[in-house]
Amino acid sequence: MNDISLSMKPGEPGNEVEKIKELFLPTREKMIQSMRYLGLGEVKIKHVCDLADLSLKIAGEVEKQTGIKSNKEILEAGALFHDIGLAKSYKDPELEPEVYPSHCVIGADIIRKLGLPERVARCAEVHEFGGGITRKEAEELRFPILPYKNSYAPQNLEEAIVTVADCFLFVEEVKERGWEGYDLWKNPESLKDLYYNYINDIYKKILEREITKEHPILDRLYNINKIFFKYVKPEFLK
Ligand SMILES: [Fe+2]
Ligand SMILES: [Fe+2]
Repeated sequence: MNDISLSMKPGEPGNEVEKIKELFLPTREKMIQSMRYLGLGEVKIKHVCDLADLSLKIAGEVEKQTGIKSNKEILEAGALFHDIGLAKSYKDPELEPEVYPSHCVIGADIIRKLGLPERVARCAEVHEFGGGITRKEAEELRFPILPYKNSYAPQNLEEAIVTVADCFLFVEEVKERGWEGYDLWKNPESLKDLYYNYINDIYKKILEREITKEHPILDRLYNINKIFFKYVKPEFLK
């Protein structure tokens, strides 16, 4: 039974070279080694491994409920490398906070330079703010604009799953810090409140102005996540 609300379809490799690159994806172990080499901290390495596991669980649930299969290798590699752009910014604390949200674009650039598949790069490129941003927003936030794509928002199932899973992990992290009230299953809209504070802080620091709770980034975040609520079981986060 197909789920009509699941508008995101699995991605495609695009061309023959991309298909072959996808056959040569490194193992999780090799990816972890390379992240350590690039200087990504252990806390972040744990985060990306948790994200890979959660993404695979969500993909399994999507498949169980709808029959729609995502590419598990792309999903795992995309989740593992989604924050690789932070390795660079951690080396230069002077660049924060401007560089922090743009780690999605920086990470995608690193992934492409490593010769990994475009679909892995895209998982990193689109994950910021829990639902991606438009090119216009990226320009406004002074991201380094790279000549690849016009959209930094998820376009297919693998990109969406990585983005949504990162969002759920962010909520868990916030709950561990003692912030109550963010129960996504009981009150999905609480996601917007949570991200409002985070994104508003970034706008204040970079552009010296505040956003409203009606900002399109928040709607985009909510709309993508809302599609996946029924595929993310609370026990996946235990
Ligand atoms: Fe990130
Ligand atoms: Fe992340």
